[in-house]
Order: sequence, then C-alpha cells, then structure tokens
Amino acid sequence: MIVVVTLEELRRETARLARPLGFVPTMGYLHAGHISLVERARRECASVAVSIFVNPTQFGPNEDLDKYPRDLPRDLALLEAAGADLVWTPTPEVMYPPGFQTWVTVEKLTAPLEGAQRPGHFRGVTTVVAKLFNAVGPQKAYFGQKDAQQAAVIRRMTKDLDFPIEIVVCPTVREPDGLAMSSRNTYLNAEERKAATVLFRALSAAKEAYERGERDAEALRGVMRAVIQAEPLARLQYVSCADYDTLEELDRVEGKALLSMAVFIGKTRLIDNFVLGA
Ligand code: PAF
Repeated sequence: MIVVVTLEELRRETARLARPLGFVPTMGYLHAGHISLVERARRECASVAVSIFVNPTQFGPNEDLDKYPRDLPRDLALLEAAGADLVWTPTPEVMYPPGFQTWVTVEKLTAPLEGAQRPGHFRGVTTVVAKLFNAVGPQKAYFGQKDAQQAAVIRRMTKDLDFPIEIVVCPTVREPDGLAMSSRNTYLNAEERKAATVLFRALSAAKEAYERGERDAEALRGVMRAVIQAEPLARLQYVSCADYDTLEELDRVEGKALLSMAVFIGKTRLIDNFVLGA
C-alpha cells in the first residue's frame, strides 16, 4: 500500500494503478462502516484509493474540527488489511493553498435537513469532494447511506458537473444494538452510549408504523418524536419524513421516502436514517 501526501506524488502513483479505480473519501478515524466501503470497492474495482482528510471547510465555527478524532497509524493498518492500494493524506495547505477562493455549491438539495442546521457544511463537502475527484480520477466512488443527504448532494454534483464517476451508496453499518457506526460515537460516555440507541429505536418504530399501513408523514414524524422525547439524555434537533430524491417534506408517503433525524446525546450530535418503500 502506497501512502502519498502531495498532489504530485498522488498523480504519479494513481497513473500506475489498474483501472477501474475505486475511491473511498474519508475523514479518518476509520470504523467498520468505512472498511465496508473499502471492501466493496475492492470487490468491484481493479485498484482502490482512499483519502484521509479532516476537511476544515465543512465544519461550522462551533463544531468539533479541533477535537475531531484522529489516528493515522491505526487507519493505515486497517486500510492495508482491507486491501487498499493507495492512501492519500493531504494537508490543509495541499487542499486549500493560499489564495484559494473557488467553491462548488449544490443549491436546492442542500437547503433542508443537515443544510438547514449546518450552514456552509455542504459547500465544504462538495468543494472538497470535487477536488478529491479531480485529483484521484476514479471510475467509481463509494459513500455510506448513513449520510443520506450527503450522498444525494454528491450524486447531484457528479451529474451536474459531468464527472465520469459512478457514485455507489452502501448500506449503513450498525453496532449489534442498532447504533449507526460513526467516528463521533467515541465522544459518548457509557451512559450516553446506551441512550444513543434512541435514534435506531425511533426509526424502527416509524418503520413498523409504516409497515402496519401508516402513510401519513406527520404521523410517522410523531412516532419518531415520541420515542426521542422519552429518552432523558436525548435532545431532538429535527425529524423528517421526506421524498427520497428531492428531500422535500412529505404529507403522505406514496413512493420512496427518507426518514431521518439529528439528535444531541449530551453534547454529541448524531444523525441516522431509514429508507421506506425501497
Ligand atoms: O463523509 C465524510 O467523511 C466527508 O464528508 C467526506 C465525504 C470525506 C468529505 O470530507
């Protein structure tokens, strides 16, 4: 496995990789969810490249950029074991050299949900992912369904900017009790970790109601709210029952829909989602 930092090294080394090249962009502190993306890329592509970059432009001023967990030696060992061929670990100066002032913005899809709570977040994500795509030049790129809006926004950007890249969205990997894997789970203390299953419990309750025939979107949002409000350590930021493609809130669930939520457990903000009608 080759590890590179500069753009020059990256270009030299990716030119030697067999095609199709699969790419997994990450912010490091890897967990089983990331590794499942690398393994899927390994199965589907002749070579696999991974980036590790904690992207400052997607963090808001009061978010966790400084304390975002990092462990490069552990990440590299996990990636080597998962069969990655190349890892790119650019510095902030490589990604955003002095004078940087060009941004990629996806408009409507970034307005609701995470976009409404985290102004500027998706501009940072789409800008860095566009730069990563340009630099790595993969044929396929792998993202997790856990960040459902991010996946939708990147699909839109890829189409709108004519990147010749297939976006592959892979299922959320969960702990045995249902908590979605996330690097931010490490912020939770033991009591909070137990309470954090409330997202999975709320989504499961709404899915059960849907399976029993409930199609009223506000009723499904109500089921999720009730479960979260019953958990003393949880503070709800939003629940949503939205159209899967447009992310607009629904009155009734007729086709494919996205149930999603953001919940604070103590100071840790967690998100999760289920797809209905898939
Ligand atoms: O999902 C993430 O880890 C990040 O948002 C991504 C796609 C690597 C861009 O920084």
